[in-house]
Amino acid sequence: MSTHRIALLPGDGIGVDVVREGQLVLDTLAQTTGAMRWDMQEFPWSCDYYLQHGQYMPDDALDTLDGFDAILYGACGLPDVVPDEISQHQGVLRVRQGFELYVNLRPARLLPGLPTPLAGKGPGDFDLLCVRENSEGEYAGCGGRVHQGSSYEVALQTTVFTREGVERIIRYAFDLTMRLGRRHVTNVTKSNALQFAPVFWDEVFEEVAADYPGITTDRNLVDAAAARMVSSPETFDVLVASNLFGDILSDIGGALMGSLGVPASANINPEGAHPPMFEPVHGSAPDIAGQGIASPIATIWAAAMMVEHLGHAKEAELVMAALGDVTASGALTPDLGGDATTADCGAAVRDALRARAVSAAA
Ligand code: NAD
Ligand code: IPM
Ligand code: MN
Repeated sequence: MSTHRIALLPGDGIGVDVVREGQLVLDTLAQTTGAMRWDMQEFPWSCDYYLQHGQYMPDDALDTLDGFDAILYGACGLPDVVPDEISQHQGVLRVRQGFELYVNLRPARLLPGLPTPLAGKGPGDFDLLCVRENSEGEYAGCGGRVHQGSSYEVALQTTVFTREGVERIIRYAFDLTMRLGRRHVTNVTKSNALQFAPVFWDEVFEEVAADYPGITTDRNLVDAAAARMVSSPETFDVLVASNLFGDILSDIGGALMGSLGVPASANINPEGAHPPMFEPVHGSAPDIAGQGIASPIATIWAAAMMVEHLGHAKEAELVMAALGDVTASGALTPDLGGDATTADCGAAVRDALRARAVSAAA
């Protein structure tokens, strides 16, 4: 039986509550299936840690994390305590970029029973996969501010697209489409108004697409893609988007799935150079932090993605099935229209997991 070393980074706000539920579900999965062992270690890196140590994570944090098989992250940021531009760059973005986790996979589909705002839509009606570039683009950190405080102050933030960075994410999207037996890739772009970087992105997309004649493609300007996600999400299959566009579209996906408490994401270096990181799409939700009412579904889903990535496809399906049992029958948090607490919802998922494991063994 394999033992997997997992780093737990709860981070800030509701991250602490939801990672605890993710961890408990992973423990239950190991106990009920006997398929794996977890060797988990939690790290206190957070805005509180920043206040004590002057940095969000220690200097050698990436060296430490590199010794793990995977990372389960909660959320980063308490903007009233530490400016976001500091905590995000020293926290979550440092791991994504420092580990060259250049793929950010963000699925959007309806779990049974969840309250989508889309009239007449239910599970199976849409199932899209956003492949978000995660290492450069608008997030490259290229820019600066000069003449601060003066009337002629200047602020620049420059999108950086490299051939290597653009080609590898688009190729990954096509390879993934093939591997999953999907058929269609949408190029999300903005090459009408922005005449340099997105035009280059489109050219690379066309070059790569030519290597995959069995996969159909279309090109969608990001503003129109945002509208299309709401009006006809079923017309999407796989989307490939730059860092910022993928960020925005994946929160729209969360809203369609019932709440930001639902969608999960995987940050991956496909070459396996560094450990992958799994996290909810949502943030630290300061507006509800400390109330014990955050949905743990996104983090449990992220944990399922981690289980699959670590080679346990059957067990990952089991977690998703248990999540589906709970979303179909109650124990939902207030964001999803219920009155359950974070702990109630997590406990219900673990009960469902045990029930499924027992019936599978019978
Ligand atoms: P957010 O995702 O934290 O919250 C947006 C809204 O969704 C809030 O009303 C919140 O209550 C709700 N929500 C989010 N997760 C929920 C859950 N699990 N259950 C129920 N409701 C949930 O976004 P924000 O308010 O824009 O950002 C708050 C902080 O989080 C900021 O510091 C931001 O930078 C940070 N952030 C971090 C990450 C990350 O670490 N990956 C992601 C997004 C935002
Ligand atoms: C996300 C978040 C992050 C992002 C922030 C917190 C830096 O919004 O994971 O979607 O923009 O990638
Ligand atoms: Mn986001």
